[in-house]
Amino acid sequence: MKKMHAELFVSSRRRHSGFSLAQLCILALLLCLTGFITPVAHAAPAPASIRYDAATRVFRIDAAGTTYVLGVNEHQQLQSLYWGPRLGAGDSFPQAKAMPEAASFDLPVTTTPHEFVGWGGGLYVEPDLKITFPDGNRDLALKYVSHKIDGNKLDIVMKDISREVYVTLQYQADAETGILRRSAEIENRTDAPFTIEQAAAATWNLPRGTDYRLRYLTGRWGAEWSVQQQPIHPGKTVLESRRGTTGAQNNPWFAIDREGGNDQEAGGVWFGALGWSGSWQISVEQDQLQQVRVTGGFNSFDFGYRLQKGEHLQTPYFYGGYSSHGIGGASRLLHRFEIDSVLPHAPHPKLRPVLYNSWEATGFNVNESGQMELAEKAASIGVERFVMDDGWFGQRKDDHAGLGDWYVNPQKFPHGLKPLIDKVHSLHMDFGLWVEPEMVNPDSDLYRKHPDWVLNFTGRPRTEARNQLVLNLARPDVRAYVFNFLDKLLNENDIAFLKWDYNRNWSEPGWPAVAPEDQKKVYVDFIRNLYSILAELRAKHPSVEIESCSGGAGRVDLGILGLTDEVWTSDNTDAYDRLLIQNGFTYAYTPGVMMAWVTDSPTWVNQRTLSLEYRFLSSMQGSLGIGANLSKWTPEDFATAKKMVAQYKSIRETVQRGSLYRLITPENNSEQSVTESVSRDGSQAVTFAFLHSSREGYPFPRIYLRGLDADATYRLSTLDGKLAPDTPASASGAYWMHRGVDAQLRGDFRAAAFTLERVGGGTAEK
Ligand code: GLA
Repeated sequence: MKKMHAELFVSSRRRHSGFSLAQLCILALLLCLTGFITPVAHAAPAPASIRYDAATRVFRIDAAGTTYVLGVNEHQQLQSLYWGPRLGAGDSFPQAKAMPEAASFDLPVTTTPHEFVGWGGGLYVEPDLKITFPDGNRDLALKYVSHKIDGNKLDIVMKDISREVYVTLQYQADAETGILRRSAEIENRTDAPFTIEQAAAATWNLPRGTDYRLRYLTGRWGAEWSVQQQPIHPGKTVLESRRGTTGAQNNPWFAIDREGGNDQEAGGVWFGALGWSGSWQISVEQDQLQQVRVTGGFNSFDFGYRLQKGEHLQTPYFYGGYSSHGIGGASRLLHRFEIDSVLPHAPHPKLRPVLYNSWEATGFNVNESGQMELAEKAASIGVERFVMDDGWFGQRKDDHAGLGDWYVNPQKFPHGLKPLIDKVHSLHMDFGLWVEPEMVNPDSDLYRKHPDWVLNFTGRPRTEARNQLVLNLARPDVRAYVFNFLDKLLNENDIAFLKWDYNRNWSEPGWPAVAPEDQKKVYVDFIRNLYSILAELRAKHPSVEIESCSGGAGRVDLGILGLTDEVWTSDNTDAYDRLLIQNGFTYAYTPGVMMAWVTDSPTWVNQRTLSLEYRFLSSMQGSLGIGANLSKWTPEDFATAKKMVAQYKSIRETVQRGSLYRLITPENNSEQSVTESVSRDGSQAVTFAFLHSSREGYPFPRIYLRGLDADATYRLSTLDGKLAPDTPASASGAYWMHRGVDAQLRGDFRAAAFTLERVGGGTAEK
């Protein structure tokens, strides 16, 4: 699968090449072998196809289990016709027809389901594009001009009825998952600049209906990834960030299914996610004629992008997909898409190494001998990457000073970082380092020298958060400074990994150095520069891996995931809280990038005491890290940790790359939670079960596995905890899925985990 993402915004003019036939064949074969689309082996999906019927002016996109249809109506508008399960090859659609005038209050332009509509005429629903021209005109009516089909890509050009404003709607279909990537490129061919006040990537229209339910993700620092559900009623729900960054408060992801008849594994689900790490907006709207549409892109709040004659603006990507296998199936499609088409090195992103991070052990108090000691201990349990967190640079003693001054602190590291890095290498680990490149403390040499480098409005207060200000990365000099210090750091030190942090959101987002009409471009140019720095660093230092962290999960989206290898899930490392946090994370993002540390008990978050085994099993559901203070561990702790790290290595490919089934979710204060991951080749399944508190002697609910080959034989091994004595050592996939497994979990905060290894039989051997 061709990587669909990394070049994003580096050049707004570049087009992505499609998937090669050879790649598609390999994929098809792989899919056939692994039975990915539905868990038990089925025929491979046909490659994506895009067809245009000139007689009806209908475009039809087929990919995996999904069909998407749009057409040009009698007013030359682009109209959505269908989005859902794949239709019969011979099915056809008549020409699109705009809605009639329902009433003098609801004109056709408002009630017709547009693919992409300018604000003009009598449009009252969310527009995709709103422009103010220099003469005061704000009316925009986009009509079809031409199109181009190139393999799995479709470009449709639209133009205003009188002005030289062109918009190219871009579609790219993924043959493996059916996920469509949509974006729009807006071009000014008039002879004067104009200001774009609102720009979406796309509108997704659902079949008419009144029984829809919306799922979305909310959170805050220390409590990210809450899954929300609500019926879609007439009116509008806006999911957004106005923070200049993705934000933990809403994540740019949605899923819509029909109320009743849907669960984790059954029912139709329409879902989507934005690839944008700046202020964003997704509005979910049910109009007066019960049409549901989802429009997403740049946040229109405080937006204003002045486009000069001849310039283009590329909107973020808006990905959308459909699953017939419930919200669980929707998540699995997204996970697979992220791994195969979004992450760096897709379709073969590297497995996450087991890492150690010093933050919770030492805080800012890092030094050469202390870090070396921790490194020795970390290596003894099988850690593969040692990461030194905050505190190593400038005059950084706490969070009051030092950000911006990226030299190694000479008191803490008198000989530079080399002795520590050499030590880490001698212990057969690679070395990672924490940085927070876009920030500055007022108490720093950088700020004293360049007070004008931060976001600010002249003469207004500069609001600090965690004693820091945001550098204006949109400025070319700031971009150069940030790139250069990182490049130098990587040139001078053997660093395998950067934990890239971003510990506050914007305030006073002014850019006084440019003309007032251009200052709001900061919302776009900042993020473009962030992406281009990441892309350039990766190109110059191809073996370096990067984690996106923002005080936890404040910057996780399909944009940053194209340029970073993993993300920090939450600063909340309480292993019980993490069950809920991680559960929400996986609705949108793969466990393959979900960093999860084992930390100390009682946890700083809740003062809750949890066994080391429980903490490990909680973290082993994602990408395992250790963040505990190893100086306090007993020999028994080391022995347990060593055993569990080794166990993790034997299942990590399944956890990080496999198909995830949420068998029992921890939502709604559930007393239990159970997840299962099945490896891509179907040879291994790993199940984690957690009990909060047992009550009134009820046994733990029976665990019914999923995604196995009913006819194959699987051998069971317990990783930790107890299963019922009558559990067979091996049995068929049918047995594990239909008779199920009983875990003997009683008491408070108990956990168990087991694997099933395929030992023979089944479809593959028939
Ligand atoms: C943020 C991160 C933490 C840690 C601190 C360091 O809060 O999320 O993991 O790196 O910064 O200051």
